Amino acid sequence: MSCRVCSGRLTEFADFGRQPVSDAFVTPGDTREEFSFRLAVGICETCTMVQLLEEVPRERMFHEAYPYLSSGSSVMREHFQALAKSLLATELSGPDPFVVELGCNDGTMLRSIAEAGVRHLGVEPSGGVADLAASKGVRVVKDFFEEATARRIRDADGPADVIYAANTLCHIPYMESILSGVDALLRPDGVFVFEDPYLADILERASFDQIYDEHFFFFAAGSVQEMARRSGFELVGVERLPVHGGEVRYTLARAGARRRSPAVDELLAAEASAGVTDLATLRGFAARVERTRDELVELLTGLRDKGATVAGYGATAKSATVLNYCGIGPELVPFICDTTPAKQGRLTPGSGIPVRGPEAFAGPYPEYAVLFAWNHAEEIMAKERAFREAGGRWILYVPEVRLV
Ligand code: SAM
Ligand code: TMP
Ligand code: ZN
Repeated sequence: MSCRVCSGRLTEFADFGRQPVSDAFVTPGDTREEFSFRLAVGICETCTMVQLLEEVPRERMFHEAYPYLSSGSSVMREHFQALAKSLLATELSGPDPFVVELGCNDGTMLRSIAEAGVRHLGVEPSGGVADLAASKGVRVVKDFFEEATARRIRDADGPADVIYAANTLCHIPYMESILSGVDALLRPDGVFVFEDPYLADILERASFDQIYDEHFFFFAAGSVQEMARRSGFELVGVERLPVHGGEVRYTLARAGARRRSPAVDELLAAEASAGVTDLATLRGFAARVERTRDELVELLTGLRDKGATVAGYGATAKSATVLNYCGIGPELVPFICDTTPAKQGRLTPGSGIPVRGPEAFAGPYPEYAVLFAWNHAEEIMAKERAFREAGGRWILYVPEVRLV
């Protein structure tokens, strides 16, 4: 157990017990034993990168039937359209630009690039979602990005002006191979832009459900700066993003190739004063999460005992951690509604809760609904306004357990 960035020693600060693969929804009647691993998090004593202590083999998570669809949220569709528009106006405005996206999923971002007629390539190992991207006119290769993939792309298409990854880089433990791949593929003054959940936001909101098999790294400006430096890159830009419960968009360039934005030093200073990588902060987070678990279980048990009707909303990968860590099954949450076709008719991994389409929510409305997709609260609460109007109450557990 050593750091996947610098081989330094890891100190564990939180343990969520045995967990299933978060997106491995189970077919009812399938009695095969589910794969499980120990979900625990630690911090590197040398480079401060926060990371999982056990790695799930990538083929168990990302394969033909990977169910997650980036296009499932209108807020995220707009977010990616805005990013594409901004890249087209800046980094991709030169002659014959070329952009590569890692983890392009169903092509939600790259379709805007394709529609603008700009050279692009999505690298996406999950075959089903890669096919969806292709059906939108996106050029996609079904593969894991790593050094060898990067070299093949460079040989076939030439250097990239921009390499982009959203909610994907933090999924990849083999970081050395990724950064050598970026080095092989990126034009000398090109940029590597990636956005992922922000450690400081996770700690502040106690959003422990950001911790699951796919989220291997929990980035902060300090750890990303050190990770970049070790591979000959420099952190030259940071931008905080409101999506998915708080993220940061990092921009790396080769050392000395770009001017470094003052926002980097501001974020580094904010991290230092908040003590985001202090063991005391991390242990405080773990203690707060235990309280959240106890309060959520107490609330749901009380509701069951008084005969109230309860449902879940959003069979998120995040919910796997909540359900399995808290020991919540169908006796407390009888079903969860979700728009994703590949999740419907299945059971949540480990916890065995049936997933139904969103139409099941209104038939009739439950009295209480646990909002597992709390990062899409605004969008879902607006869409399901009638639930509140009918007297329903949302149950949230981030940043604390409460009724809305
Ligand atoms: N970028 C999309 C978004 O933000 O909505 C999709 C994010 S999804 C959570 C993570 C994606 O990364 C999956 O589609 C998965 O197949 C892909 N992925 C995992 N490992 C990868 C790798 N080594 N190279 C490229 N994509 C990878
Ligand atoms: P995410 O938090 O990882 O983006 O996952 C969100 C999940 O919630 C995904 O399975 C789709 C589902 N969802 C709905 O069911 N209805 C909605 O309106 C939205 C935005 C998401
Ligand atoms: Zn390290």
